[in-house]
Amino acid sequence: MKLKILSVVGTRPEFIRANAMSRALRERHCEVLLNTGQHYDREMSSIFFEELGVPPPEISLGIGSDTHGAQTGALLTAIERVLLNERPDAVVVHGDTNSTLAGGLAAVKLHIPVIHVEAGLRSFNKLMPEEINRIVVDHVSSLWLCPSEIAAENLRREGIVENVRIVGDLMADALHLASARAKLTSRILTQLGLSPQRFLLATVHRAENTDDLDRLSQILEAFIEVDEEIIFPVHPRTRHCMTLIGDELFNRVNKSRIRLVDPLGYLDMLMLEQSARMILTDSGGIQKEAYWLGVPCVTLRDETEWVETVINGWNILVGANKERIISAVKTFVPQPFRPPLYQSDGNTAARCVVEIERFMVSRLRR
Ligand code: UD1
Ligand code: UDP
Repeated sequence: MKLKILSVVGTRPEFIRANAMSRALRERHCEVLLNTGQHYDREMSSIFFEELGVPPPEISLGIGSDTHGAQTGALLTAIERVLLNERPDAVVVHGDTNSTLAGGLAAVKLHIPVIHVEAGLRSFNKLMPEEINRIVVDHVSSLWLCPSEIAAENLRREGIVENVRIVGDLMADALHLASARAKLTSRILTQLGLSPQRFLLATVHRAENTDDLDRLSQILEAFIEVDEEIIFPVHPRTRHCMTLIGDELFNRVNKSRIRLVDPLGYLDMLMLEQSARMILTDSGGIQKEAYWLGVPCVTLRDETEWVETVINGWNILVGANKERIISAVKTFVPQPFRPPLYQSDGNTAARCVVEIERFMVSRLRR
């Protein structure tokens, strides 16, 4: 049975995941890759297609940025038009972005089954736009591909039990596919004049940390005071918010040991991650990568969906509190053991394809 699967992607982590998923899907099925264009700057989008060899999207919508309602509305309208035209057997959506939400809603209303990859994650904080997106998408999906038992349990608590499968995490596949190449080809350590273990790596992009200038200021104050070299690739959202923090703090950032750089390609990013003494981040993907690479992670959030990394003692939650951030950078020591997490064998995409096939066959039999 050859299926026609339409995969929706639109943001940086979705492009990175698509690398693994598209390879596996296209071995046996016809995939239509739809890029919504939620992220559009070269270093937030096309760089990943160029360096990872992700197949060029068959369809690009070029939706771009807007308020949540306007962006999601535009995405919904445009994706619906594509689905009416393409009539795929199923739609695959990833994670929790506005592109994920619109893809899921457009498909379910046309009675096209929605397959949610990275299903069941919860922060239990409905102030996060991603939490709303995840909950809605999980409740319109027909097959739930989860990274962990905890994610499956979250779904069970919401009454979702059938067609829930634990397959692991596609970000681990992406890491497997790229890590050797990152070591061979990345020149980022030389370009930035860095020695392994002699710097920290930081990323900040969550709305809660950027749009709230008090939180953003506390994070930057902490980065200044830890007085270690910090490489900080700045997400465009954060770059914009940093123009609003005031000249005094901005000047101190510029005079400190924080090095603001543009967002990086995935290979350079992996090189920096594996060479850093410690990672400070509010990114979901980077918390997991830190774990898999064995780099202690300080998470600049009050809660995380990736609770296993905290339970296993390699990740610590410090919120946006200046003193807690500084104390964690100076004192956090991870546990001696690092049990495997999220089935990080690099075969998640293959498991996803098998589960999609089983699910589609069972639908046909009904
Ligand atoms: C989105 C996702 C978030 C994910 C992140 C990955 C939602 C609600 N959030 O957040 O879950 O972790 O992507 O990075 O979908 N911008 C540019 N150039 C770009 C992209 C964005 O300048 O190429 C700026 C625009 O000012 C835009 C802002 O960044 O308004 C935020 O972009 P948006 O896609 O709305 O959300 P992210 O913060 O990127
Ligand atoms: N990443 C990257 N360049 C950067 C910052 C992040 O390639 O400058 C990669 C990172 O290694 C991870 C993914 O982007 O694989 C995480 O994306 P992001 O933090 O934007 O989103 P989240 O995972 O929080 O949804």
